Amino acid sequence: MKNSAEKVSVKVCLGTTCFVMGGGNLQELNEIIPKKYGNKVELSGVNCLGLCSINWEYSKAPYVKVDDDVVNEATVEKVLELVDKKLGIN
Ligand code: FES
Repeated sequence: MKNSAEKVSVKVCLGTTCFVMGGGNLQELNEIIPKKYGNKVELSGVNCLGLCSINWEYSKAPYVKVDDDVVNEATVEKVLELVDKKLGIN
């Protein structure tokens, strides 16, 4: 768990594979995250994280990184759940 001064970083992969595999839906996070967490969470879009090429068949895209943890087959719900956990919110 984080102490209150630390931020959680959320990096949404905007690479082509992730985007076509459903990453586009994750744009919702742009609205939800600031509303829900204020400045406790730093959200950014990043280029291909390099994960899609390691993974055969791209089957686990889209990817999002929350701090150093990779969320595969990412959905808004999965990402928020992990952020909650990191911030100690149940
Ligand atoms: S496009 Fe997202 S990891 Fe490659």
